[in-house]
Order: sequence, then structure tokens, then C-alpha cells
Amino acid sequence: MSEGEQAQEYHGKLPRHIAIIMDGNGRWAKQRHMPRVAGHRAGVESLRSIIQRCGELGVEALTLFAFSSENWRRPEQEVGLLMELFIIALQRETKKLNARNVRLRVIGDLSRFSDKLQKEISKAEEQTKANTGLLLAVAANYGGRWDITHAVKKLAFQLEKGDLAAAAVDENMIRQHLCMADMPEPDLFIRTGGEQRISNFLLWQLAYSELYFTDVLWPDFDPQQLGTALAWFASRQRRFGRTGDQVEQIKRA
Ligand code: IPE
Ligand code: IPE
Ligand code: MG
Repeated sequence: MSEGEQAQEYHGKLPRHIAIIMDGNGRWAKQRHMPRVAGHRAGVESLRSIIQRCGELGVEALTLFAFSSENWRRPEQEVGLLMELFIIALQRETKKLNARNVRLRVIGDLSRFSDKLQKEISKAEEQTKANTGLLLAVAANYGGRWDITHAVKKLAFQLEKGDLAAAAVDENMIRQHLCMADMPEPDLFIRTGGEQRISNFLLWQLAYSELYFTDVLWPDFDPQQLGTALAWFASRQRRFGRTGDQVEQIKRA
């Protein structure tokens, strides 16, 4: 199927926002008797092709889990190499993101990163901020619990200052203070690498996402694999609490 045909195939049922846990780099490398970092390097290649494909298809937002708040527990050497890889990727890829009209945003608690990495992140965000195509959110030192805690803390400060009444706090207010509040919540969640868990990714935002798990390891996840996930997504009936018949009725109306 050509790209155009594929885009048409998903037409009307293309997710506006896709969130991905890119898992399986380490096992990919291990299978090849290579160091784990070789898997992370290969993972960057997958990243590039998936970003490109999402842009071509007209997906509005892509959120990628690059480093969790729990990944600091890994051996110091692996953490160091991941940080290095992150810096190199930011330096090398920004031009390509611009050429593809992609806007980059990094979400998470960036304060724990080195000054150099924080600077590279701001630079890449600044250089791509005027782009109008795909919004690419990279979750780094991100945790779903951190995101919710951070939002609640912001409201607590407002409350303490007397700018907010406790009775006024509702779901919408919390949502507005979370990362990616300006984007629709992910329609499709993908986790590669065979594990079927959320691992503290977007806890609030995934409340009604369709969850797609594949055994394919992230370095092997290519646009064709993405196509399979999108076809699966297009076949799902999203009910948001209603009955299937109600959803059919709304569609016909
Ligand atoms: C995901 O791959 C990448 C990061 C967490 C940075 P892993 O490194 O978790 O790969 P596996 O799960 O060990 O195979
Ligand atoms: C989740 O993968 C985080 C990222 C992909 C960045 P992990 O490999 O860290 O998840 P667990 O530990 O297996 O749940
Ligand atoms: Mg893993």
C-alpha cells in the first residue's frame, strides 16, 4: 500500500495524539551480543522513522517516553550514556525536525539534568517553536505521578495565596495544569517490547486511550509496524462509557 492509500485507509480514524513507550532496546542489543547502549543507538533510528511517518500521516501530537523518573535506578554508566545520546540526538536532529516542520517539546522534571543538557533542550525547543506540523513531546525524567503531583502543587500554591477556593478545584482544573494540557489526550498508546504495563507514563492522560501492546522490540519498530497499530486502532469502537449501540447511533446522526 502506498503512503497516500494508507493515510486514506485510516482517514477519519487516525489518532490525533499517539503516545509510545519505546521499550526493548536492551533486549535487542543482548540478542545480538552487543552492549545495551547499542540498542539505545538503534532505537534513535526507529525514532527518526516513526517521527517522519507520523508527520506524513498528519498526526497532531506524538509523545515518546525516553527516560522515566525511575530509570535513574539503572547502572550509572547506562544512565550517563543515555544522557550523552540525548545531547547528541538533540544536536543532530534539530535541523531535520525543522525540515519536517516538527515542533519539539520536552516534558518532565528537567531540573535533575546537567546544565549542558538543559541548555540543549531549550535551544532545540526554541529553534523549532515556530513549526506548525507534528508536535513531538519527549518525556524525559518524566513520571505520571510526578506530573499529577506537580499540577496539584501548583493549585496548592494558588490556594495558599488565597487566589483559589478549595471548592473550585475540579478535574478540569487539574487537567489544565498537567503536561500536554494544550493537546488532546492520547487516542492511541503503544508499548513495544512485550511488557503490558504503563510504567508510570501518562497516568491521567491515558484514562481513555486505546492500549496497543506489541512484542516487537523498539529498534525493530518501523513505519510498517506503526501501520499495523493504526489499522488496529481504526478497528476499535471507542465508547467513553456509552453502549455500543449508542455510539453507532451518534455516528449515523
Ligand atoms: C527502553 O529500552 C529505553 C529506555 C528505558 C531508556 P530498555 O533499555 O528498557 O530495554 P529493555 O527493556 O531492557 O530491553
Ligand atoms: C519504560 O521502560 C520507560 C521508557 C521506555 C523510557 P522501562 O524499561 O523502564 O520499564 P519497566 O521498568 O520495565 O517497567
Ligand atoms: Mg525496558
